Amino acid sequence: MPTLGVNVDHVATIRQARGGKEPDPVQAAVLAELAGAHGITAHLREDRRHMQDRDIYLLKQTITTHLNLEMAATQEMTQVAIDVAPYMATLVPERRDERTTEGGLAVREKERDIAKVVEQLHEHNILVSLFIDPDIQQVKAAAHTGATHIELHTGYYANASGREAQEEEVGRLQDAAIAAHKLGLRVNAGHGLNYRTTARVASLDHIEELNIGHAIIARAVLVGMDLAVRDMLAVM
Ligand code: PXP
Repeated sequence: MPTLGVNVDHVATIRQARGGKEPDPVQAAVLAELAGAHGITAHLREDRRHMQDRDIYLLKQTITTHLNLEMAATQEMTQVAIDVAPYMATLVPERRDERTTEGGLAVREKERDIAKVVEQLHEHNILVSLFIDPDIQQVKAAAHTGATHIELHTGYYANASGREAQEEEVGRLQDAAIAAHKLGLRVNAGHGLNYRTTARVASLDHIEELNIGHAIIARAVLVGMDLAVRDMLAVM
């Protein structure tokens, strides 16, 4: 079974709706850990729409599992990551007008720029993962950058309708994971997974960690963080 990284961004989304202090994503992260989460993931976006700098620093100081910082491959974010020193930085594409991360990183097209950021983060002992589509060419490009990990974008699978389309996407995820493993990359996966779609991805070969946010926080609003995380672990 892969491990579970709980993304707490949307606790901050609720807080930012009123611009106050509650609910606190750091408190949510602690509850997620107590319920069995193996890691905490947070995305500090350039527009600071949910997570704030304060959250990232406090998460690093507070949690007892590992922090995976999702970030754009920019110099501003690289400096923040170096200062915070998370266990892992996951490089993601970012567009201000998107509601959430839409596609994977175009590593093939920006191999040199990404390799530079990977090198800077590695110099500071931060593991680097690249969030990419389940596409063999992107997997190969990711290996060229020197990154040790990739995170496969599961959104296409999660949004596929009908068993046939879903299984086609599962096939793409499995082929990409096998190719990555052969190239010596370690493989995480995530985006858009929920309590119905996660089990299938959790059963694939070579996937080490699943990063799941929205579905867990949405359930936590109704049943509490503890049960929401335990339910997801049970599904996995
Ligand atoms: N992985 C990455 C790279 C993401 O950008 C996100 C969303 O922030 C997630 C996983 C979690 O996605 P979701 O909130 O849909 O579970």
